[in-house]
Amino acid sequence: MIKLSNIGELATYHPREGKVRINHNTELFISDQHITASTGEQVEKIIDCQGKLVTPGFVDPHTHPVFYRGRQDEFAQRLAGATYQEIAAAGGGIRSSIAGVRSASHDELIRRTSARLDRFAALGTTTIEAKSGYGLSSEAELKSLAVLGELNESHPLDILPTFLGAHAFPAEYSDLPDEYVELICDEMIPAVARQGIAKFCDVFCENGYYTVEQSRRILETAKNFGLTPRLHADEFEDSGAAQLAAEVEALSADHLMAISPAGIEALRSSKVIATLLPGTTFFLGQSNYAPARTLLDNGITVALATDFNPGSCHIQSMPFIISLATIQMGMSLNEAFAAATYFAAQSLGIATSVGHLSEGAQADFIIWGVDHLAEIPYTVTDLPIHAVYKRGRKIFGLD
Ligand code: NIG
Ligand code: FE
Repeated sequence: MIKLSNIGELATYHPREGKVRINHNTELFISDQHITASTGEQVEKIIDCQGKLVTPGFVDPHTHPVFYRGRQDEFAQRLAGATYQEIAAAGGGIRSSIAGVRSASHDELIRRTSARLDRFAALGTTTIEAKSGYGLSSEAELKSLAVLGELNESHPLDILPTFLGAHAFPAEYSDLPDEYVELICDEMIPAVARQGIAKFCDVFCENGYYTVEQSRRILETAKNFGLTPRLHADEFEDSGAAQLAAEVEALSADHLMAISPAGIEALRSSKVIATLLPGTTFFLGQSNYAPARTLLDNGITVALATDFNPGSCHIQSMPFIISLATIQMGMSLNEAFAAATYFAAQSLGIATSVGHLSEGAQADFIIWGVDHLAEIPYTVTDLPIHAVYKRGRKIFGLD
């Protein structure tokens, strides 16, 4: 048994109490990679937390980490005045990441993605959802998911893979969108299911990308093959995607910057979790953050994620996302913290054992260099993380 001693402040969402609980001057016990009650079992190792803050590791339920290179060139174009949508309409955007993934070897993609996972770990994230979506051919989508599967085995982070063949239309199908949807439904989804390499299926449902009808067809097919739907919904414009998320019983509807009152009503009477990505709004230089307050006040469960990707949000830090959620979206400290841990895990269907430090939970935690939870958003970028543990084992540390 491992003892975490000298915890100055222990902050965790408590599923049974339904709220964030803060305990002072306490300790935790770990047995067999999980949090356990202190039994008579012999303590073999003591981790001294030096009176500092301890929290669960962050769960990031929306990332796009399998790409070849960054898109700094497009970032420069945006700084010079072009919008994300203008760049995409001119053939850039998601499409400009396709050639790199298609021509990269499996090993090269492993190397590049693995380095990004190391960065997530150093920022306190211990579990991520990760999407394919920069291959947009059967071969390159399956290759991207195989990379995630291999890294889930070899890297300490837990990775929940999502098939996102419907991220954009590849150039060769730009005039034949319905044929590409057919390829997704008839070939890609069956192959993904056969190989067992994705848990979820996502679609970028947005004007100019996938229509509600196309998205419905893809997600219904995915469900028939045992994949759970989640959805990029109402990011730039309201297209009724939130209503579709409710209709297909998606686990999560993500973005929602442009959600309509009807979309809010649909989520309210469903179990869909609203996963908000304020890093994207910030990175795109916009100010129309998703209406977190309205969603929460309507009783809708809210999770937070980075949306880490090479185009619209090159941010991997969940602490920074918590800063944005509190400063820009009006979420309270406890709401944002719970949304980045417990509700993020719930949006991946893993909240029984992940996203909190109650008895029985996986021992994924952060020992901070600060004393109180409020210092996480307060610090903004000068990240005070002392050590990160996954299943009771140190995966990042300053000493
Ligand atoms: O979540 N919205 C769709 N996909 C990404 C953007 C990906 C990219 O630009 O490469 C997003 O914002
Ligand atoms: Fe995304």
